[in-house]
Amino acid sequence: MRHLADTNTSIWTLPSPSPDTPAFPVLETDLHADVVVVGGGITGLLTALHLSDAGQRVVLIDAGQIARRNTGLSTGNLYTAVSNMSDLSARWGGGVVGQVRALRAGGIRTIERAVRRLALDCGFGRVPMFYGIEHDANDLRVRVEQEMLAYQRAGLTPSASRGGLPFALASGFRVEGQAQFDPYRFCLGLAAHLGRRIPVFESTPAVDVDAGEGCVMTPGGRIHARHIVLATHSPAGFNLVQAEMEVYRECGIAVRVADPPAPGIHWIKDSERSLRAAVAATGEQWLIAVGGKHQVGEQHRQQEETQRLDAYVRERFQVTGDVIAWSAQQFKPADGLPYIGGSAHDNVWVATGFQADGLVWGAVAAQLITEGITGVHSDAARLLSPLRITPMKSAKGWARTNATVIKHLVGDRIKREMPTHVDEVNSGCGALVERDGQRQAIYRDPQGQLHALSPVCPHMKCLVQWNDPAKSWDCPCHGSRFAPTGELLEGPAMTGLRRLAPEGGP
Ligand code: FES
Repeated sequence: MRHLADTNTSIWTLPSPSPDTPAFPVLETDLHADVVVVGGGITGLLTALHLSDAGQRVVLIDAGQIARRNTGLSTGNLYTAVSNMSDLSARWGGGVVGQVRALRAGGIRTIERAVRRLALDCGFGRVPMFYGIEHDANDLRVRVEQEMLAYQRAGLTPSASRGGLPFALASGFRVEGQAQFDPYRFCLGLAAHLGRRIPVFESTPAVDVDAGEGCVMTPGGRIHARHIVLATHSPAGFNLVQAEMEVYRECGIAVRVADPPAPGIHWIKDSERSLRAAVAATGEQWLIAVGGKHQVGEQHRQQEETQRLDAYVRERFQVTGDVIAWSAQQFKPADGLPYIGGSAHDNVWVATGFQADGLVWGAVAAQLITEGITGVHSDAARLLSPLRITPMKSAKGWARTNATVIKHLVGDRIKREMPTHVDEVNSGCGALVERDGQRQAIYRDPQGQLHALSPVCPHMKCLVQWNDPAKSWDCPCHGSRFAPTGELLEGPAMTGLRRLAPEGGP
């Protein structure tokens, strides 16, 4: 398996920056606005669009580049169901799964309207979705039947189908009227449009949020606003929802094949794989395969899961070229529904817990947050409120989340196996090393220079782990991620890892 790119680059972001990629400045002054949107992925961009349409003065900032961090790593699949409808139905009942279906159908229409209105060149098209199993076993058949029933309870109309793949499925069903697009090109086009209407800044991280003052601090200036929208995948800083979410990573690969699947979204549930054909910005057709969920900070799993995914594809398709491999992070809420809306601070709005279904939830969040800021209240806003308390529906999720945090907060500190010696850290790699009587996060850059960091995550003090395929320090507790040299890549932490002197002194 030969990789064409690093693992932070997906099939969508591979050819960029293209000449058409909009570039936005870094904020270097103080600003005042009605709303500051933090995060330039699909959620932040659509929220900014709606709020701007509603007459609000909006400023949008992104810590890096538009849509490269999460949205650009997604599959581009848009579906009205969620990944596990029978589980959602069992927890919440038919009324709520029907509400979820209606909300998500509205989210897809929101994206479709933006595509048409702004003439966004992103390959948007309506396609069917297939759900099936390869192996003919009783428990798997029951699972398909349960899922089909949950779809029906939600108001969808699944019909029996064995899908459009070059290999046989034992059973399954299809649902019409779903959609696919290139999420990165969608966001770039949307950002280019927004940049002509509102101030948009890149490479402008929020380093602090003062809800009381209504202020977002960045390295180059402060943005004062009546409302702050944290569209950052996981809200920055301390927020109760982080204690209720499990954090996973999932692998994706794209390969050239001679026998691509029929247009549509293909979910193979017994192997937990998602497949789709895709045309990249370069015009080349690819097969995208996604799967191999694993917890953040589980060293080696990403590489293993990527290899398993690659082998899975090669056993079923005629692969004709190299592989692009990447991975993305997911936040799984304890009760199965995302957290969208006002936080404990009336003026701070959050959108998180989208699991693997984030593109459509992002569009739903944009609508609901806009309604909340402009004074519209709805049943959907109450259902998805981040302030909801659902102990009966959340118990298992809470137990898993807290067990994970305690395992890493306490367990990682008392692990006594001998850490790697600094001389064993290869060029371009990192490791936790016992040095000068303290544990350090050591990275040796390709030029051979050592970078010594504190391994203590600034969010809530868990120890970060080195993620070699992604070349990042990842926190297993709530999913913060840091560059090899310590800069913050993804919150909830708001600052990078503390640098230590190369000799190990503070
Ligand atoms: Fe919460 Fe690191 S992300 S402790």
